[in-house]
Amino acid sequence: MSEIFFKELKDELQKGVSEKNHPFRYCTFATVGNERMARLRTLVLREVTQNLSLIFYTDKRSKKLIHIKENNKVSILFYNPKNLLQLKIEGLARVRIDDAIVEKHWSSIQSNHRKDYTTSKAPGTSIPNPDLIEYLNKENHFCIIEVEPFKLEYLKLKRPNHIRVRFSKADIDWHSEFLVP
Ligand SMILES: Cc1cc2nc3c(=O)[nH]c(=O)nc-3n(C[C@H](O)[C@H](O)[C@H](O)COP(=O)(O)O)c2cc1C
Repeated sequence: MSEIFFKELKDELQKGVSEKNHPFRYCTFATVGNERMARLRTLVLREVTQNLSLIFYTDKRSKKLIHIKENNKVSILFYNPKNLLQLKIEGLARVRIDDAIVEKHWSSIQSNHRKDYTTSKAPGTSIPNPDLIEYLNKENHFCIIEVEPFKLEYLKLKRPNHIRVRFSKADIDWHSEFLVP
């Protein structure tokens, strides 16, 4: 019975990538790095692979990479206000730099969007004025974060009963259980 919810969450994630205005295009991506502090930020979901790994783009100098290096367990939150669906994902993050996958994605990015990964100074560096951002000409600091989920939690608010389902991965199979919402 839980299969329909699994299919729905997969479809919603795919729509986040393929439909420009779908709410799952954006997620809140949490890391826990030094000082054991939860760090949250918005990221664009770029791809969902066949085995449900999630692909994100970032700058390899960003703080989230330092956190992932210390602790590769991450949490991701999606919310669709149109159907009151929340999806929480826990997974293991892997950073990909300078490999064929990175090249493939880099070549698909429009040139005016590439500049996001080419600032001279690292993201988060203090500057005196927001117009004083310099960009590199040839070099870039683009990389990919790939998250392999091990837990998914579906929550849909609806009447008469809300529906909450936890999917846990054991080896390659997903096991599900309904939870009190
Ligand atoms: C709508 C929106 C989309 C964003 N998408 C991305 C993204 O895809 N990749 C990224 O690295 N930062 C993205 N950001 C910026 C991040 O939220 C964050 O500020 C930045 O990555 C630095 O995070 P960090 O210092 O925790 O590493 C986005 C911000 C907003 C507001």
